[in-house]
Amino acid sequence: MPARMHRFSVAVALVLLAAFSASAQQMTSIAPRSATLTIDDGAAKAASSPTLYGLMTEEINHSYDGGLYAELIRDRAIRHGGWGQLDHWRLVQRGIAQANLEIDSKTGPSTALPVSLKLTITSANASSPAGIANSGWWGIPLHPRTDYQASFWAKASVAGADVTAALIDDDSGRILTQQTVHGIGTSWQRYRTTLRTPASLTPSAHNHFALLVTQPGTLWLNLVSLFPPTYNNTPNGNRIDLMQRMAAMHPAFLRFPGGNYLEGNTIAQRFRWKQTIGPLVDRPTHMSPWGYRSSDGMGLLEFLNWCQDLHMQPVLAVYAGYSLKGEHVAAGPALQPYVQSALEEIEYVTGSRSTQWGAQRAKDGHPAPFPLRYVEIGNEDQFDKSGSYSGRYAQFYDAIHQKYPGLQIIATAPVTGHKVDVLDEHYYESPQQFFAMADHYDKLPRTGPKIFVGEWATMEGSPTPDFGAALSDAAWMTGLERNSDLVVMASYAPLLTNVNPMGPQWVPDLIGYDASTSYGSPSYWAQVLFSKYRGDEILASAMSGSLLRIFASVTREKSTGVIDLKLVNANTVATTVQIHLDHAAQPPASGMQYILSAPSTTATNTISDPEHIVPRQKRLPKVGRDFSLTLEPLSINVITLHAKGK
Ligand code: AHR
Repeated sequence: MPARMHRFSVAVALVLLAAFSASAQQMTSIAPRSATLTIDDGAAKAASSPTLYGLMTEEINHSYDGGLYAELIRDRAIRHGGWGQLDHWRLVQRGIAQANLEIDSKTGPSTALPVSLKLTITSANASSPAGIANSGWWGIPLHPRTDYQASFWAKASVAGADVTAALIDDDSGRILTQQTVHGIGTSWQRYRTTLRTPASLTPSAHNHFALLVTQPGTLWLNLVSLFPPTYNNTPNGNRIDLMQRMAAMHPAFLRFPGGNYLEGNTIAQRFRWKQTIGPLVDRPTHMSPWGYRSSDGMGLLEFLNWCQDLHMQPVLAVYAGYSLKGEHVAAGPALQPYVQSALEEIEYVTGSRSTQWGAQRAKDGHPAPFPLRYVEIGNEDQFDKSGSYSGRYAQFYDAIHQKYPGLQIIATAPVTGHKVDVLDEHYYESPQQFFAMADHYDKLPRTGPKIFVGEWATMEGSPTPDFGAALSDAAWMTGLERNSDLVVMASYAPLLTNVNPMGPQWVPDLIGYDASTSYGSPSYWAQVLFSKYRGDEILASAMSGSLLRIFASVTREKSTGVIDLKLVNANTVATTVQIHLDHAAQPPASGMQYILSAPSTTATNTISDPEHIVPRQKRLPKVGRDFSLTLEPLSINVITLHAKGK
């Protein structure tokens, strides 16, 4: 290269380098932005709804079967598989055993479960058993020194057969624990045993369950079940870790049973509550709209027990004559049986033992009535293009209101010509959309029905929301809080997902899990913080200065005077907020800050890195009538201000 050219290239390179580093400096040296938040801490603007944050649930993503409902056996109620084969059951032939496994559609333990597994054993002995095996919901999680309740319905060709229930390590084939049930009879009966795992067991989900037989003969089996310890030790109960995660959200209500799950794809596949109560053997199971059959182990009473366990009030959605694929029942006489069914369902929930359905509930194990304030008529009826909702809603409303005048009735779509107590609105939006909509309810008049945001979520992240979604979720929640005089309830959806391949049908979902463990997404943690620190009255506040992607809400706890302040900084630069309390007769003397932050919007929690993003807390050194707070870039902040030292 000639010297002149070389000098020129070096000069160009130096100029480019200087330009690059100047722009790099510019990129990294954006000055922290500043804003002022003025809080009117005199008289409250309005009361804040005590029920603002709750849960919405349905059978989707293996929320119950393979999720919250603690049953460990997959497809315990034997049905024909999709291709006429057995789903999730295998024939076991150890050593020289010879056997055959098929579905017998002529015999089953009940009218609801009219078929069974027929195990025909031609050759078996103590060292060569035959039997059936099930690998559960992506494995069977076992812990040491733990009792597992096994049960099954069976009958034998010849009285007296013995059946051994066993838990077996997948990798080694080693039997970890077993118990033999003696004397199976020739008519259908339920058998039970307890399997205790050894102290030396290493926790793992690489296990399967088997029923083994050591003599020739024929055995029919159905409703094979295995339960680990459950939350509050409730029989037929729920998974402990998931209940604890939900409890931490301090939910005020549970909206159930859906969602699309309430409607079913067709009228025939709707959620028929009467088929979900009573002994499991009398529950026929049903096909859900999310592509798999529901065991209905999580039935109406189990939903209510879930409410009771987590101190939530039920928001009972009743089937209202419209199903997902477009079938509907016209208002009038044809709809009356559905209205009657809803009235009976409400009686099952609230009736005394002297009523028909209250007595049934007592028989099913819960003598005391459950509290009930809200009943929802259908789900997303704006999709009913026949235009039948207003008529259907009116028929349900009038009948329910006449018998239960104290109930608040929720419409799922705008209704013409009839009173609506509460309107359920659903929002599945992008982060940008939620940022833009954070002031949506600030602008709405207070003259219409109350609002229930029955489903909402930022649609970013898979299978659970990432930190970017948590930021826009939090921004949206500030709007819900500022307007919780109008928005009486709100629930994120979907709530739960099994993260195994083929587990989710919908993403993102708030809480993820596999057979053994679970985790909360960043959005989950935002909700934990927002719900835990929230007052019962709304304080007016005004923000000025750099307002881009900064969001705030302020509430106060009446009895203690504690101010709960939410501040979301959805910018990649820090923002200093000057906080001014207008009246502060007794200025705050101490404060705590709870921070959820991440270096990037794509950062997230996963099943293998469950606590990548979790809240941190710090004491605020200097608070008072006027003080400033620097919000970290990309951060969700909850600040509690206490008049006296905390
Ligand atoms: O939350 C998932 C689904 O979204 C619900 O079942 C339905 O109501 C909505 O369309």
